[in-house]
Amino acid sequence: MAGITITGIGKRFGATVVLRDVSLTVEPGEFVALVGPSGCGKTTLMRIIAGIETADSGDITIGGRAVTRLPPAERDVAMVFQSYALYPHLTVRENIAVPLAMRRLSAVQRLPVLGGLLPGARARRRAIASEVERAAAPLGLAPLLDRRPMELSGGQRQRVALARAIVRRPAAFLMDEPLSNLDAALRVQTRREIVEIHRAAGVATLYVTHDQAEALTMADKVAVMMDGALLQISSPEAIYADPASLQVATFIGSPRINMLAATADAEGRVDVAGLPVGLRAQAHSALTLALRPEALRLAQEGLPVIAEHLEFLGDGLLLHARHAPDGAAVIARLEPEAREKVQPGAALRLGFAPERALLFGADGKRVAARADARLVTA
Ligand SMILES: Nc1ncnc2c1ncn2[C@@H]1O[C@H](COP(=O)(O)OP(=O)(O)OP(=O)(O)O)[C@@H](O)[C@H]1O
Ligand SMILES: [Mg+2]
Repeated sequence: MAGITITGIGKRFGATVVLRDVSLTVEPGEFVALVGPSGCGKTTLMRIIAGIETADSGDITIGGRAVTRLPPAERDVAMVFQSYALYPHLTVRENIAVPLAMRRLSAVQRLPVLGGLLPGARARRRAIASEVERAAAPLGLAPLLDRRPMELSGGQRQRVALARAIVRRPAAFLMDEPLSNLDAALRVQTRREIVEIHRAAGVATLYVTHDQAEALTMADKVAVMMDGALLQISSPEAIYADPASLQVATFIGSPRINMLAATADAEGRVDVAGLPVGLRAQAHSALTLALRPEALRLAQEGLPVIAEHLEFLGDGLLLHARHAPDGAAVIARLEPEAREKVQPGAALRLGFAPERALLFGADGKRVAARADARLVTA
């Protein structure tokens, strides 16, 4: 077992700064998801860890070994990338065996017919064959071992690429959007398989995705990257419920978190458009009150909104509304029974529990807030 530690990684391409002082630890056996918008530097970071790209500054250790100056082959990491390169003329079995054959057989021993006749080669080939079968079985590839890549679906090819990475038993896995070529159903299934394989193998894994749902469901820890910098590294629960900045709060969660302009007066009473909302914070003239859609509910008192339209989700409703004082868009996730009460055009009030409210300052950083017992909205 081993982990990955990267410290102070910086990288620029010409004048463009792509990574800014990136530090991250993947503990032994841990699964860390790296999420962020397109172009924020995720693939560049993975390539630097793998050794395919060099960093301008910073250090990398894998399994406690300093690898910053080692070539990719000596870093003991297995990579699965978005575009998986399988050898088209080799069968699934042979594709998966490639890394083991390269490591354990001489060039002559690798020859298809002659190689098998050489002393020592037969036992080694048998060992490789059984390891290939052990890696292939949990991925459902056992019936496909004698096919060639062109006879497989996209999802099956992706799983061959995964098996080829697993069979090496590396010190760490690097996966860069390995599911992006799969359709929705297969993505959900393969997602679960990757998590199960990770648990069974117990290998430190860094997994890149721009799909935040994937990050939240799969990972022990989520690292949010924007514009080349890591903004927050926390458990999925904390990233969602306790974001450190407005950037993280708005990137994670769908529909997007609601945002309303707020102020805190000299006594610390937080108002939204002159209405006290049951919170206290340090005096501040330009706050943002952020509320997840599911934190809002229909109430007697609370934020005044005008209903615009409804989306029926089966197990709930999304109410799209406008905040009456300033026209800000507000989305509330309600129980399906709320349907009759929320006709388009209706004037409604949306309440929330103060502990669900998040406050951010003008710089986008989180501002501490506490419930103001006397003013809690119903
Ligand atoms: N070889 C290169 N030369 C110059 N610029 C590059 C090079 N490789 C990447 N970049 C730039 O670096 C930035 C980060 O790219 P990177 O591929 O790491 O993003 P990403 O987060 O993986 O995005 P995506 O989610 O779209 O895959 C981008 O602005 C990209 O244009
Ligand atoms: Mg990328």
